[in-house]
Amino acid sequence: MKEIKNIVIAGAGTMGSSMGQTFAKYGYDVVLYDVFPAALEKAEKLIRLNQETEVSQGVVTQEESEALLKRIIYTDAKDCFGTADFVVEAILEKLEVKHTFWEEASRLVPRDALLASNTSGLSISRIAEVIEGPERFGGMHWINPPHLIPLIEVIQGKETSDEAAEAIRDMALAVDKKPVIVQDAPGFALNRIQLAVLRECLHIVEEGIAAPEAVDDVMKYGLGMRYACLGPFEVCDLGGLDIFYNIASYLFEDLSDRKEPFGMLADRFEKGQYGVKNGAGFYDYSDGKDAEKIRYRDQMFTKLAKCLFE
Ligand SMILES: NC(=O)c1ccc[n+]([C@@H]2O[C@H](COP(=O)([O-])OP(=O)(O)OC[C@H]3O[C@@H](n4cnc5c(N)ncnc54)[C@H](O)[C@@H]3O)[C@@H](O)[C@H]2O)c1
Repeated sequence: MKEIKNIVIAGAGTMGSSMGQTFAKYGYDVVLYDVFPAALEKAEKLIRLNQETEVSQGVVTQEESEALLKRIIYTDAKDCFGTADFVVEAILEKLEVKHTFWEEASRLVPRDALLASNTSGLSISRIAEVIEGPERFGGMHWINPPHLIPLIEVIQGKETSDEAAEAIRDMALAVDKKPVIVQDAPGFALNRIQLAVLRECLHIVEEGIAAPEAVDDVMKYGLGMRYACLGPFEVCDLGGLDIFYNIASYLFEDLSDRKEPFGMLADRFEKGQYGVKNGAGFYDYSDGKDAEKIRYRDQMFTKLAKCLFE
């Protein structure tokens, strides 16, 4: 595949803005494209805020941060696709919206451009149905917040060539991420694991086994610390497979296998309480508690990354 210099990120929301910032940090020229000018303004503000945090934490110098900011262009004009070497789409998570976008964009880009979607779990093979040259298209699933979390899932759809999957993986490696290649199953690997955990947490609260705060503590002070440096299979090896086999023998049948969203998740969703994005979720985020929580998360993730990967 050709050398990549110009990257277009389509969708300048939560994910796109942070992904753009990451590529710019590693010297790529980045265009953040969005249909809404207000989204572009918000993205620019968010990237500046993230940069202030990174400078204050010594992750980048003031000069590096200023150079990074200059490498990002914000636009709602489609002509950016004409010179793209790599397009990563991070727009709305709806198949029909992604189809409309890719049907057009794949015909505007150079024939040898590499293409990827940051979908959280929609089928890469289904998205590819409308793409001109589907062999150059695959999944590149970043994890929120993309500028801090190392994992990227690379998804090889039915039509994705080995060469394109490798090129997407190489782009992840080029920005110091930890890519993992997974097949095109719903939710890929990360969201299958994450949602299995969430379902059991909701079940624990609904059954009165533990309160939401206690469930969060169990994760933060117990499993989370383990899983920051060991995977579940490594944890089993260290604890003993005989122990885990015996626990599984009596516990699997007692765990939730509900098929629909339920409990507190359904309740908050129906009330329109979506979390930090609108002031209330499982917890209260009014009066600046939203920004406080985001700052706390970013500082802790930065410290953790320093411990684990430097
Ligand atoms: N938020 C997460 O935790 C997360 C994690 C991993 C993957 N994702 C995936 O990334 C994608 C984006 O998620 P997000 O959280 O950044 O959403 P978001 O709502 O914050 O941002 C989406 C942006 O796309 C823009 N947009 C919508 N239609 C467009 C179009 N046709 N062309 C250009 N721009 C368009 C919107 O204006 C908005 O700015 C989704 O597919 C989502 O599933 C999200």
